[in-house]
Amino acid sequence: MTTTMEAAIAAGVSFALTPEQCELRDLTREFAEREIRPRAAEYDEHQTHPADVIATAHELGLVNAHIPEEFGGAGLTVFEGMLMCEELARGCSGMATAIAANSLGSVPVVLAGSDEQRRTWLPPLLDAPILCSFALTEPDAGSDAARIKTTAERRGDEYVLNGSKMFITNAGHASWSVVFASTDRSQGHRGLSAFVVPMDSEGVSVEKHLDKMGQRSTDTSAFALTDVVVPVANRLGGEGDGFKIAMQTLDMTRPGTAASAVGVAQAAYEYSVEYAKQRVTFDVPIAMHQGVNFLIADMATETEAARLLTWQAAWMLDAGYGRKAALYSSFAKRFSADTAMKVTTDAVQVFGGYGYIKEYPVEKLMRDAKLFQIYEGTSQIQRLVIAKEIFLPRDD
Ligand code: CAA
Repeated sequence: MTTTMEAAIAAGVSFALTPEQCELRDLTREFAEREIRPRAAEYDEHQTHPADVIATAHELGLVNAHIPEEFGGAGLTVFEGMLMCEELARGCSGMATAIAANSLGSVPVVLAGSDEQRRTWLPPLLDAPILCSFALTEPDAGSDAARIKTTAERRGDEYVLNGSKMFITNAGHASWSVVFASTDRSQGHRGLSAFVVPMDSEGVSVEKHLDKMGQRSTDTSAFALTDVVVPVANRLGGEGDGFKIAMQTLDMTRPGTAASAVGVAQAAYEYSVEYAKQRVTFDVPIAMHQGVNFLIADMATETEAARLLTWQAAWMLDAGYGRKAALYSSFAKRFSADTAMKVTTDAVQVFGGYGYIKEYPVEKLMRDAKLFQIYEGTSQIQRLVIAKEIFLPRDD
């Protein structure tokens, strides 16, 4: 770790954002304050899919910004994408997840697609606010991703897919999905492959929009694949590359998720500061009570620590640190998710009874924060990845 930090300093890493990065952050913050925050409570209440917000974000270039320039995208770095995620989630992490899920869905194509596949699947995402999704999880395989049961059987120039996918972000509204399936059950994780599946293919049926505790404006759905036929041309990478494609994708996207958790913690902290200045007990604003101001001091410190770890993970991914960067992605995801949970829980405490009712914003933040400890690899899975890197480091 010291080596990485030394290398970073030698490479001239500075905590100052460039003028372009400041502009991007400010544009996203202003968008989130104008378009996202005013709708957050209502969309949460009714589980509204934020199609209107996604469309406006798309017009401003805030969706799919990671797509490389050669395919018509802005080619933003992981670091820049992460700056956007924090600001979007500061507005509402449900809507931020709905927007960011297009990165999760399309990164496998960017990472593992052939030139032709990239030209087929990426530019349409830029032309219109269409959605894609990442379908790895199944009813019986979440954390243990290698155990998925969906199969893809090769028949000539086609594959026939059968199985079920669960907890898939935006699946109910996606045009296509990257579906992970086994092409050879006997090979375990080495028998998994990745396919781009148009969601209007015959045999794809979205079965359930799941009724979640938090991040309710993101559609999370289950879908089934029954004899779904896709051409061989839709397979990303070779047969058996699927597991690595999934892992490499998650390595790339976890800093964005970590940044979203930081955005939620930041919002909870800001609301708490404002409330503590106004709410009076025992003849003084509660900010004057050490019991409250120590809570808020810890919120500020831990949110900043989570942000720095997230910045480092994103910087390392951009700087090409490979597996070492993946370790930092897990550091960042684990720490930011757990920080968001703690900070939002403390925010409810600062607000007291008002924190527990829907009229005030912090109970939503606490419900939203919980999901960061679960999706894109639970906090326990991040610890598993970290411990593996510590005790069984790999060089690839
Ligand atoms: N990059 C490249 N290769 C990797 C890798 C990585 N980051 N991590 C593992 N691998 C490779 C290993 O090198 C190994 O390769 P070999 O076949 O050559 O040996 C292979 O993959 C298997 O690795 P492990 O032995 O470590 O695999 P495992 O089964 O013991 O554990 C795990 C893997 C880390 C627990 C993995 O299953 C995992 O990440 N689980 C969590 C899944 C997850 O995050 N799901 C979230 C779904 S997406 C979602 O929630 C998003 C949403 O819609 C909001």
